[in-house]
Amino acid sequence: MSKRKAAEKHWSPDRLKKLTGGKKLLLLPVNGAELLFTLGLMNRDGSISANQTSKYLQINHMLELTRRPLERLKERFAKVRILDCGCGNSYLTFLIAWYFKEILNHPFEITGIDSNSKFIERSKERARTLGFDDSVFFLTTSVDDFFNSINEQPEELRKSNRFHAVFSLHACDTATDDALGLALRTSADFIASAPCCQAELSQQWTEFSRTNADHPFKVVMNAPLLRRETGALMTDALRILLLRGSGYEVTTTEFVPSEHTPKNRLISAERRGAFHKDALLEYLNLAGSLGGISIKLERLLPVAAADVFSSLSKRSNNL
Ligand SMILES: C[S@@+](CC[C@H](N)C(=O)[O-])C[C@H]1O[C@@H](n2cnc3c(N)ncnc32)[C@H](O)[C@@H]1O
Repeated sequence: MSKRKAAEKHWSPDRLKKLTGGKKLLLLPVNGAELLFTLGLMNRDGSISANQTSKYLQINHMLELTRRPLERLKERFAKVRILDCGCGNSYLTFLIAWYFKEILNHPFEITGIDSNSKFIERSKERARTLGFDDSVFFLTTSVDDFFNSINEQPEELRKSNRFHAVFSLHACDTATDDALGLALRTSADFIASAPCCQAELSQQWTEFSRTNADHPFKVVMNAPLLRRETGALMTDALRILLLRGSGYEVTTTEFVPSEHTPKNRLISAERRGAFHKDALLEYLNLAGSLGGISIKLERLLPVAAADVFSSLSKRSNNL
């Protein structure tokens, strides 16, 4: 029996209502049977068990949060090109592919990259199973190396192969900055990023507190848990300012309910212009008041924003 037939048989209106909580979801067990089964989120008999349900609801929620910007890309580009950085199990990669194929019915190309070859090999296998061989591609590479390889291409090719959207969901630590930096420097029109563990600020504060015992922030700097949690929050605040400073309109939303994971902030950004001086200045003020720290994304800004940033930074150092 086909996966779809099995799902049709299993999902009575009552069962469906219980699964969805009466919400109108885009990816339903019947229309998404092949995808859900291939991703391991549906059983052979078409059922979705309790431990698969939360992931099923999460990916639906993710789709709901990103569908409008994706639809806007569909209106603008004959073929929408998307990059998923640190794709891991590639749930998101395939979900977007499914959305473009089954719902938007619009040409697309998605590339998933991950530094772990085991994930990439499994994702390639899944792309073959789902018949996505000509539209979904996977590469074993770090985000950094991938950016360098793009940069080595002739300018014309680089422009025509530009990614319209860049995703990074829970890419570890500063891999999130690498993905954001790649998106900014290749002028992605839409960026969606859910940061993961962040150690960069926490490490800088540990150093800083050794020599600046009287800083007003010392209560945070000296307590490992507060340092880590505040560091994650402030890193995201600083990232938002750099995205705004690079000409993007940025929003943050809760992307999975916090009972599933505390790493539940989704930063979404849409490109509006070249740079925004006030936001870069706000970044410098905030970084200064946090002990003169900096985050990796600061060093990955696109040229227009980087030039403005460097002159603002020189000016504030001279004050
Ligand atoms: C927590 S998993 C998230 C996977 C997937 N995005 C998701 O949300 O289910 C993080 C993934 O990022 C990958 N990763 C970490 N650092 C990376 C880097 N610098 N470049 C590429 N991939 C990276 C890891 O191998 C891992 O598969």
